[in-house]
Amino acid sequence: MELRAVKGMNDILPDEIGRWQRLEAIFRRTVELYGYREVRTPIVEPTQLFVRSIGEATDVVEKEMYSFQRHDNELTLRPEGTAGAARAYLEHKIHAREPVSRWYYLGPMFRGERPAKGRYRQFYQAGAELYGEAGPLCDAEMIDMLARFLQQLGIEQVEVLVNSLGGPATRLRYRQALLDFFTPRSAQLSEDSQRRLEKNPLRILDSKSPHDQALCAEAPSILDVLDDEDRAHFDGLLAHLDALKTPYRVDPRLVRGLDYYTRTLFELRGTGGELGAQNALGGGGRYDRMIGELHGPETPCIGFALGLERLLLAMAPAPETSPGWVYVAPLGAEAQREALRLASELRSAGIEARVDGRGQKLNRMLPRASNSGARFCVIVGEGELARGVVALKDLQAHAQEEPPRAQLVQRLREILGGEATR
Ligand code: HAM
Repeated sequence: MELRAVKGMNDILPDEIGRWQRLEAIFRRTVELYGYREVRTPIVEPTQLFVRSIGEATDVVEKEMYSFQRHDNELTLRPEGTAGAARAYLEHKIHAREPVSRWYYLGPMFRGERPAKGRYRQFYQAGAELYGEAGPLCDAEMIDMLARFLQQLGIEQVEVLVNSLGGPATRLRYRQALLDFFTPRSAQLSEDSQRRLEKNPLRILDSKSPHDQALCAEAPSILDVLDDEDRAHFDGLLAHLDALKTPYRVDPRLVRGLDYYTRTLFELRGTGGELGAQNALGGGGRYDRMIGELHGPETPCIGFALGLERLLLAMAPAPETSPGWVYVAPLGAEAQREALRLASELRSAGIEARVDGRGQKLNRMLPRASNSGARFCVIVGEGELARGVVALKDLQAHAQEEPPRAQLVQRLREILGGEATR
């Protein structure tokens, strides 16, 4: 039997990794400027954590979790990062140590969705969570941080959607308004949405069925039933976004697929067409009740996550910029030992070096060096050793010189430094 990667789970090979690392570095740099620090939590968590925080009637919990039993524990591969981070925040009593915490994470998530372009079963998220601030100032600042991040990546064709889901009282009122609207029309709803009508009518607004969506367009808007405090919070968010000059569009049908949200909700959609149907680059919102529901103290929270594969699809391919590396070609046994020492010196000087360990003749080694992608080839032969020099070939400039062995690092630095300042 041929063994292949699990469907919907991808290898990221070394020739692709440069783009990933660049993306991750820009993410870290951006969020760290806002005071966020990295947290790493386990990939596996108790299943109940996700059931309780994400919500039983969500697609993620109902259909998509990779769950299994081990040592009498019900476990699940994390489908997202918010629940695990909240568990860690609570478990380590971070709330007792500091009034406000800003955390970020990068890593793989798992959802058993139908694979498609931009939709995988193992995918990577970059996310951030802010604990202890009720906003709306920090809500606006977080959205602005996201906009800045996308700008740094060169993703310009993007739309920011915002909405408010209100607090518990608003949600109850809205739930009733949706029941009043959908119950007489339930026969027109998809089977999934008929079930949602009983369990959690808000989820109907999330339905992917075009028929359901057409009905949803006529459903009451949550913005019409916000109570005064929720309304003030939402208006505050919009005013702060205006002050930051962050463009956005209010979308009262935005509900997102997870049950834990309260008040502020946002989503970033790519509009450039590279993403096809999976155009949600990322999203998030407030979840002021989660920590309390996990039996912790009431703690306001807000966060977001971005899909890294989707960001890479939306990003323009950037040329790889590397100063180039050195192919060290030893001719003979003594030269090999010298080559090892020389390569080690180059690395200590911050110059990438690889030694050819196949030990053949120069006429075999040189073509290998030329085809390797190296910028330089350093030939260490018996003759060079005897004269205290090395042969340095610049494979890009097609030039050759013979610097003294002791001055090789300095000479390479001169060539590379000259280029960097040119
Ligand atoms: P989410 O909207 O479920 O939110 O996921 C965030 C992003 O992850 C999506 O916008 C998308 O870019 C990416 N994503 C989700 N599923 C897949 C998939 N199957 N394949 C590829 N990419 C995918 C959350 O996960 C929340 N935890 C965000 C949050 C943080 N809310 C508060 N704090």
